[in-house]
Amino acid sequence: MNAATRIAVGKDLLGLADVSADTITTLLNTAESFLEVGTRTVKKVPALRGKTVVNLFFEPSTRTRTSFELAAKRLSADVLNINLGVSSVVKGETLLDTARTIQAMSVDTVVIRHAASGAPKMLADVLPSHVINAGDGAHEHPTQGLLDLFTIRRARGCVAGLKVVIVGDIAHSRVARSNLIGLTKLGAHVHLVAPPTMIPVGIAALASAPGTVTIGNDLDQALADADVVMPLRLQLERQGAPLFPGKREYAHLFGLTPARLAAARAGALAMHPGPINRGVEIDATVADGDQSAILDQVTNGVAVRMAVLFHYSGGGGA
Ligand code: NCD
Repeated sequence: MNAATRIAVGKDLLGLADVSADTITTLLNTAESFLEVGTRTVKKVPALRGKTVVNLFFEPSTRTRTSFELAAKRLSADVLNINLGVSSVVKGETLLDTARTIQAMSVDTVVIRHAASGAPKMLADVLPSHVINAGDGAHEHPTQGLLDLFTIRRARGCVAGLKVVIVGDIAHSRVARSNLIGLTKLGAHVHLVAPPTMIPVGIAALASAPGTVTIGNDLDQALADADVVMPLRLQLERQGAPLFPGKREYAHLFGLTPARLAAARAGALAMHPGPINRGVEIDATVADGDQSAILDQVTNGVAVRMAVLFHYSGGGGA
């Protein structure tokens, strides 16, 4: 099948849990063809001409919001950015009111980021528009999961059979959840590493098959045969009471240093969804080093979001 032919996907993209391995692969193949658009002098294709995409961000975001904006613009959609700033708990009524306002403007696709897990689903249930989850609480961040899969596939040729170590604040990380689900669907083995306080009970149940996820507390041990290492930011804004004694101790035990990366498989990939805290979960030398895929992730993010908007924007046009 031609990667740029629209496939039947659901109305909304709320999480990778609802997406089959085949659909994930098609989305990645489409992203491959859209990646080329970003290298042209005129970085635009007409696929979403006449469609309106609203970026509804209830949490601060730089890369995800700008990435969705660029993706929609490169597909020739009209884009509206609504930043509702920091709000820890936006009440259900407010969200519903916002939804009704959007509905009244005949918007085709709503991209939403919200501090509350389940907020995109709530919108999806009431809006006829397509809803794309750009990160909801500690639930899922499906386009980040897809762009990470895409980055790994491009660097390694495939995802199946690789060992991916995800280290850090798993408990509060929607990135960890979407990656765990997506990676195991495509046949990778995921090893989660964190202090015991940051590993949620039952997390392994998110894996697509039993035995595809292992969990530990020792990063050095975990790295020995790792193909990819993905440190996560400590989500201090979500942690409430501290889950570890201090940042220095955390960096000492769980920070990705050059020595630790050297202990992984030759040429192992260092990834990070950003924003990074240099010297805490990742050493600056690693973040800026040859094995770092951090900026590739950003570049790939635009192509992957183009693919998502393309397939989830429904029929017509293109
Ligand atoms: C992540 C997020 O917001 O979930 N960042 C991102 O989308 N690039 C991770 C984080 O905030 O640490």
